[in-house]
Amino acid sequence: MAASLKSTHALSFKILAECSTTKARTGKLKLPHHTVDTPVFMPVGTQGTMKGLTTKQLEDLDCQIILGNTYHLGMRPGHELLEKVGGLHKFMNWDRALLTDSGGFQMVSLLKLAEITEEGVKFQSPHDSKEMLLTPEKSIEIQNSIGADIMMQLDDVVHSTTTGPRVEEAMYRSIRWLDRCISANKRPTEQNLFPIVQGGLQPELRKICATEMVKRDTAGYAIGGLSGGEEKDHFWRMVKLSTDILPRDKPRYLMGVGYAVDLVVCSALGCDMYDCVFPTRTARFGCALLRTGQINIKSKQFAKDYRPIDDTCKCSTCARYTRAYINSIPNYETVGCHLLTIHNIAFQMSLMRSIRASIVEDRFPQFIKSFMKTVYPDED
Ligand code: GUN
Ligand code: ZN
Repeated sequence: MAASLKSTHALSFKILAECSTTKARTGKLKLPHHTVDTPVFMPVGTQGTMKGLTTKQLEDLDCQIILGNTYHLGMRPGHELLEKVGGLHKFMNWDRALLTDSGGFQMVSLLKLAEITEEGVKFQSPHDSKEMLLTPEKSIEIQNSIGADIMMQLDDVVHSTTTGPRVEEAMYRSIRWLDRCISANKRPTEQNLFPIVQGGLQPELRKICATEMVKRDTAGYAIGGLSGGEEKDHFWRMVKLSTDILPRDKPRYLMGVGYAVDLVVCSALGCDMYDCVFPTRTARFGCALLRTGQINIKSKQFAKDYRPIDDTCKCSTCARYTRAYINSIPNYETVGCHLLTIHNIAFQMSLMRSIRASIVEDRFPQFIKSFMKTVYPDED
């Protein structure tokens, strides 16, 4: 570990500029494997590979940090094997920064059969139907063998529109599980562990959760439970309320958020990191991201459109191929999907670069205005 990193945490976060109007900031997040410019969008590589992309292509796209997944990696190739080969960085030939989610959220959202108790998340293995139990300790053990720069606590996540006592139960359980995760971390000076603020859409619960988690003085903090299609107004309010409490000098990660409008708004609310499957998942359905909105490249209106997907885009797809060509690819699922995935990740990276540049030059409010005018041209 570099000498400049604080000994108690495996990262340093330096804020380079702050917006004079909003809570936005841009900084350098120095992690054991790579230094990341924030605000940053982290593409999701579910099974240890970005669907359809090589690690070289991710580097060429200027990705500085990607997300791996404990649930998938614990199953295949299995964390004992990962331990043997020296972690996921070596296994997938990625030497930049890596973040792993704890697995519980994926299990609960993917597997209907998951059952949550104080011990952990019980579920049936999709591979051999055996009953498995993911405890906070087990999640950290797996994440320690994966070796990511940032690990996430196992949290009890309820759908964002859930109401009633279950929201409070999940919030308090997430705090208890955080303490178990902190105790279980065998490599605290090499791997950072982030808590995840929960509390649904209830302001009081969010405040209690954020306040309790800040007391643990961890390297950074995440805001969770907000990617379930709740109303923007509610969602943004919960983000603001959380960033008001989370310390200014530590990175704030908003989980599962990746729509362009949300990246702009939540950066104004003081968030520094984001991840979402949306840009890569939507590419598989033929959907290309543009500042003016999305287009479906498989639609017949593009059959004779000889422009690139986006003539302002610098990606290798836009440099080489037309909409008509991608539209004509017979096996869209392989080549077309690959070309669009490259474009969509380039779009996210370029948006984040624009956000950072406008914060450095203290013109972020103007950037927001012109961005919103492009997205919503007909509204005042
Ligand atoms: N991904 C998106 N939201 C969440 C969340 O609340 N918790 C976890 N662990 N992962 C997420
Ligand atoms: Zn492009």
